[in-house]
Amino acid sequence: MCSVFGYIGKQYSRQLVMEGLSRLEYRGYDSAGFACLDPQSNHIVYSKASGDLQHLKDKLNQQSIDGYVSLGHTRWATHGGFSADNAHPHFDCEKNIALIHNGIIENHQELREELRAAGHVFHSETDTEVVAHLFEQELGRRDLSIELCSEIFSRLQGAYAFAIILEQYTNTMIVARKRSPLCVGVGKDELFVSSDPLAFIDKTRDVLFMPDESFALLSPSGIALYSFNGQSLSIATSSLDFSFEQQDKQQHEHFMLKEIYEQKAAIKNTLTHLQALSADLLWKQLGLKNEQVKDVEKITLLGCGTSWFAGRIAQFFFEEIAHISTQVSVASEFRYMSFFPRSNTLCIAITQSGETADTLEALRVVQSYGVHTIGLTNVASSTIVRETQGSLFTQAGCEVAVASTKAFVTQLTALYWLAHRLAMEKGLIELSDMQAAEQNLLIAAEALEECIEQNKLRIMQELAPYYATYKQYIFLGRHIGYPLAMEAALKLKEITYIFAQAYPAGELKHGPLALIDAQIPVVVFSHQAHIIYHKLVANVQEVKARDGHVIAFAFEGQQELISLADTVFIIPHVAPLLEPIAMIGLMQFFVYQMALVLDRPIDKPRNLAKSVTVE
Ligand code: F6R
Repeated sequence: MCSVFGYIGKQYSRQLVMEGLSRLEYRGYDSAGFACLDPQSNHIVYSKASGDLQHLKDKLNQQSIDGYVSLGHTRWATHGGFSADNAHPHFDCEKNIALIHNGIIENHQELREELRAAGHVFHSETDTEVVAHLFEQELGRRDLSIELCSEIFSRLQGAYAFAIILEQYTNTMIVARKRSPLCVGVGKDELFVSSDPLAFIDKTRDVLFMPDESFALLSPSGIALYSFNGQSLSIATSSLDFSFEQQDKQQHEHFMLKEIYEQKAAIKNTLTHLQALSADLLWKQLGLKNEQVKDVEKITLLGCGTSWFAGRIAQFFFEEIAHISTQVSVASEFRYMSFFPRSNTLCIAITQSGETADTLEALRVVQSYGVHTIGLTNVASSTIVRETQGSLFTQAGCEVAVASTKAFVTQLTALYWLAHRLAMEKGLIELSDMQAAEQNLLIAAEALEECIEQNKLRIMQELAPYYATYKQYIFLGRHIGYPLAMEAALKLKEITYIFAQAYPAGELKHGPLALIDAQIPVVVFSHQAHIIYHKLVANVQEVKARDGHVIAFAFEGQQELISLADTVFIIPHVAPLLEPIAMIGLMQFFVYQMALVLDRPIDKPRNLAKSVTVE
């Protein structure tokens, strides 16, 4: 997604802007740009380049532009293809105003027509550019004022974080936020503006997270903050206590491989962190009162992509362990659906980054019903933590590869653990059951790693080169194995670009069976429950009877499935409901090796970003 970074202060800032943008690389991008006010001429000077940040850096190395008031941006295309013209900053007709934006201006077409009719000439296909012309239009008639900003921002529909510089007001930067993340780092006589405090955390720890629907006029000596209706707001800064850690791949070829191998430790760290929470501290952190905990009637889980699949698996945890009726919704669809909360409903939004716009929007809908919301995230400084009444943290460590691996298993860990805590609070299980559950998580983590170790060489030397030649795949599972199949299919699509579709195994005969032939391998995730296993075996028989090719993830001793499959991976037994943790590492490794054979850019697959901050 786009990243916004700005600086206003007493230093030449090009280098620190570039450094800030590099730290935001995880957001993914296709072009980048830099602009500043030239201290001698007070004119805006700029540079833009298509491609990754290095292209912009190389271009800037040939130029001497720098200044005390500057903007940097990386773009993830929404409106208009990736080109230097569409890269930010964007300008008004005279290039007296420069601005950068993250988000989408939904009414840009209407504004563009209005501004064109008034004589403005556009230079890009982006939705962003209209805002520069809107400022130009208004500043042609009157001075910069609170009312002027308030009027302009109130006209913009959609989601946005803006930083704007103007030749006419060399000591001012305008910033604004609606829905998209934006924060201001407060230093001594200098301010840093960013989509994520990570970009400036080594310069200052005092951060103003811009309230939703607010704008600010920044100068080196301070911040004047206003709501969109022009009311002055007080400045409440937070003091952050994390540091930027340069991530490196250690001995691994890709971050994804490193992160696959970190899963066992990530599960353990998450568990240790959770175990350290006393009952009082846990419910307090979740924003719940003890009596509320006992009476939770319904849980709504929200998430997108892999986090949604974690929710789909966790539904079984909350229903089977804590006996709480659980609904799981993909967050990007939630706002179009009816929602029927019961009197004591809990909503848990699952998001590794804590910044996913679809998840945050769904959460806001839930909150409009007065429902208690909790964010389950890996990033303690993220937007979700500020917008929910309670938080629970996974301890996956920084996940760099776009395709989620260790975040997923730590989400499962936290949700499995929480289901047991709720069950204990309701008197359904004893402390000894809780302790056994914790032990079982560690055993499943061990199984995850063991499965990779045992199959590693076979996958690298034989299976990955062979299976990378297929063009499409079907994934099957039942019960908890179905969301696992969905997650596995997503991983395959993301990093190999091979098409894959997951089905509940019982649905095969209702249509997809028509696809079966020797050209479309069927990956089956087995289950430990006998009744489910036997039904799965019947589904595999149906595939084999039609010349299908089967890859099975079977548990030890499941002889019938093992002998039916063309390729089989044997998984050690784990506690019921922890099958996905035991199997997913091996699946990720298999898919990773296929992507390697296909020479894909594994850590940054085309078109994808790590943090999806637009709807
Ligand atoms: C897939 C993947 C995505 C994310 C999704 C939600 O490997 O990483 O599907 O899971 O974009 O992201 P978060 O969890 O940050 O809300």
